Amino acid sequence: MCGIVGYVGEKKVTPLLLEALEKLEYRGYDSAGIALMTDNGIGIKKTRGRIADLRKIVEESGECGSTVGIGHTRWATHGEPSDVNSHPHLSKSGRVAVVHNGIIENYMELRDFLITRGYEFAGETDSEVVSELIDYCYSGDPVYAVRKAELQLKGSYALGIIFSDFPDQIFALRKDSPLIVGIGERENFIASDIPAILKYTRDVFRLDERELAVLTRRSVTVLNSFGERVDHVIEHIEWDSGAAEKGGYPHFMIKEIMEQPDAISKTIAPRLAEGGGIELGFKSISDEDLKNIESIKITACGSAYHVGVVAKHLLKKWLNIPVEAELASEFRYDDPIINERTLVIVISQSGETLDSLYALREAKAKGARTVSIVNVVASSIANESEEVLYTWAGPEISVATTKAYSTQLVLIELFGIRMAQLRGTMSPERSAALIESIKGIPEGVSHILKDVQTIQYMASLYFNSQSVFFLGRNIDFALSLEASLKLKEISYIHSEAYAAGELKHGTISLIEDDTLVIALCTYRPLLEKMISNIKEVKARGAKVIAIINEDDIQTGTVADHIIRIPECDEIATPSLTIVPLQLFAYYIASLKGCDIDKPRNLAKSVTVE
Ligand code: F6R
Repeated sequence: MCGIVGYVGEKKVTPLLLEALEKLEYRGYDSAGIALMTDNGIGIKKTRGRIADLRKIVEESGECGSTVGIGHTRWATHGEPSDVNSHPHLSKSGRVAVVHNGIIENYMELRDFLITRGYEFAGETDSEVVSELIDYCYSGDPVYAVRKAELQLKGSYALGIIFSDFPDQIFALRKDSPLIVGIGERENFIASDIPAILKYTRDVFRLDERELAVLTRRSVTVLNSFGERVDHVIEHIEWDSGAAEKGGYPHFMIKEIMEQPDAISKTIAPRLAEGGGIELGFKSISDEDLKNIESIKITACGSAYHVGVVAKHLLKKWLNIPVEAELASEFRYDDPIINERTLVIVISQSGETLDSLYALREAKAKGARTVSIVNVVASSIANESEEVLYTWAGPEISVATTKAYSTQLVLIELFGIRMAQLRGTMSPERSAALIESIKGIPEGVSHILKDVQTIQYMASLYFNSQSVFFLGRNIDFALSLEASLKLKEISYIHSEAYAAGELKHGTISLIEDDTLVIALCTYRPLLEKMISNIKEVKARGAKVIAIINEDDIQTGTVADHIIRIPECDEIATPSLTIVPLQLFAYYIASLKGCDIDKPRNLAKSVTVE
């Protein structure tokens, strides 16, 4: 999704903005630009394409020595990726330049209004309306102009703004899109995300909804929507910029796959209490509240939703109450039946996914109790849910999630066990055994990661596949959803996940000679049925890779290849099974020469609906 940076200080702003934008590349983008405060007013450089293209343009035009500016990477929503649609947008008067992340839903209406007032528009984006609208509202007071313009805006926005009349200041405003402020020595920053500015400062805070920040090189003033000054607690980022670097790996994705044992350990450890207890650290939702919950809805997007599908199977069994998993983008518009005895769990790595944020708000509006599972500390979803459980995965840069998925999975499992303990639906012996299994997950994952050669070999056999089917039943089907998404999003190979028993109701017609089918066979109660399903696709010419338990002696006789998962309890199996499938997707994409960390059309943090 779009990335914003802004700087006011004493350093030359052009190289700084370009470098900071490079650190936001992982979010996904198709054009980039910067606006600089110069002696001759605001100068704009922008282009469709990569930051390297922008860098070339900037170098050709020579360094201007500016120390104040804003920059942007755009992920196209309204209007094609083009030079004119790229940000920053400079108002025709030359007074106001704006970078925007989000969507202005009523931009057509505003555009028509501004045209009646003599304004003209060069491109098709919703964002161009913002610079012209602020310009229209401006009569000498920038804060007043931004607030007046904001009254007309419908939708989501994080904005970085400069005014030619105020060459030493940058302005920032946000609603439903993330924006952080970085505090330095005689310099201050705005950015969409921490890695952009980590090289320069570790002291940051997140702007809250509808807060407006005014930054000079010596001060940061934050105003709420009533115009009152607001003080923020400054967070000191402990992880260094190395955590957001590749550290010798060719891609962030493989680095993050390899970091999983550590990330899972860090997520589990703080929750384990003496004597087999699980410490959630909740303040608003009491044990009594958790005992009284009558149903659970898990909502999220993409891979985080897939965690929800695995968890649905486990929690339903452990708690003996209805548990559903629903896509956040559907949840809100499906009149969810929830009340104060419903627990809504929102899962999100970024904590800023707009569909998930809106689902959370819908749940709260209907009176549900809300818990979020989030990786980015103090993000919108973390802040707005009643309780938050953080995954301690560290920064995840690769667009395709791996370590966030794995940490979300163990965390929701721990949460489920805690609820079962409280409600008396799980014996102390069983909960102790499950906790022991969870503790063993990092070691099991490490074991799988030590031998990647088998997976590399299988990837070398099948990287030319046109289409791949993932089959599984129950939890294995939930894992198939994630395995299929991983493969298709980074390798561009068409792939589908099917509940194995469902295939014969239509989709089996797509199976022909040499179609690759990956059969997940780790869910013991339905192994016999999976074996039948493998035979069905084999009879139609498919090649089958089966993912099997260590002690499975049957499946290998029907599949073409097998990948064994080390012996473990059913609760640890999903966490282990997903790892070879992540690796398979990675090595296939690598053999195909794909841009693994930044797959086409994708964005890391999806802050539009
Ligand atoms: C896929 C992937 C996405 C995210 C989804 C939700 O590899 O990463 O499907 O899982 O966009 O993002 P978060 O977790 O930030 O809400």
